[in-house]
Amino acid sequence: MQLEEQLNNIRAFSYQKMKKDSTGHGFDHIQRVVNMSTELLAHLSADKLVTLSAAYLHDVADDKLTTDPAALEKEMITFLQANYLSQDQINKIIFITQNLSFSKTLGGKKPQLPLEGQIVQDADRLDAIGAIGITRAIYYGGAHAEKIYDPQISPRQLKSKKEYRDLSQETVINHFYEKLLKIKDLLNTSAAKEIASKRHQVMLTFLTDFKAEWNAEK
Ligand code: ADP
Ligand code: NI
Repeated sequence: MQLEEQLNNIRAFSYQKMKKDSTGHGFDHIQRVVNMSTELLAHLSADKLVTLSAAYLHDVADDKLTTDPAALEKEMITFLQANYLSQDQINKIIFITQNLSFSKTLGGKKPQLPLEGQIVQDADRLDAIGAIGITRAIYYGGAHAEKIYDPQISPRQLKSKKEYRDLSQETVINHFYEKLLKIKDLLNTSAAKEIASKRHQVMLTFLTDFKAEWNAEK
């Protein structure tokens, strides 16, 4: 089976799994992560099939989207085998999808990802910052009934996934201080770091303008 055909099939599988999500993890996010991974791949020598498969599949077994991640992982493995990926490639892809997320790095843990995983992790994180990142944070906050902003509520120092998922004291603006402004220093590849510096600036400008307008400054 040709690489293009394998990727087309994996894309279709991911689309079926992701199209129902409406909290910022929809297929548009997946496609952007695939596109950015392709861009980063041009600067690095990594396995293209492993990288782009992991990009397509990185949120499929996410515990926010399913109550049974293990069942989805089994389904992914069977599907990848049917598309003639080697056991080695499949193991790598599953490891990457299990260890990619921001919450995995909270509390001092930092799983060592293979280069393919570092690329997808960077692409996933770049999609959480800049203009798209601002949009996704507001969208997510709205979907979870977060306040937009409350100067009385200080940003937290997140130390666990439990804290990250506890939205009782969360605001959209605090999410920038708790996660989004930290992303530029958490990236793996230099190509991603370069892209992040402009996106970081977009968020800083947004936050400055937001607070000025909040305080009725002219
Ligand atoms: P991942 O699991 O890929 O690290 P998340 O599911 O945590 O990503 O986040 C999905 C999107 O929603 C990201 O753009 C993220 O910044 C945003 N988001 C996550 N938690 C919050 C929150 N409490 N308030 C606003 N936006 C959030
Ligand atoms: Ni993602």
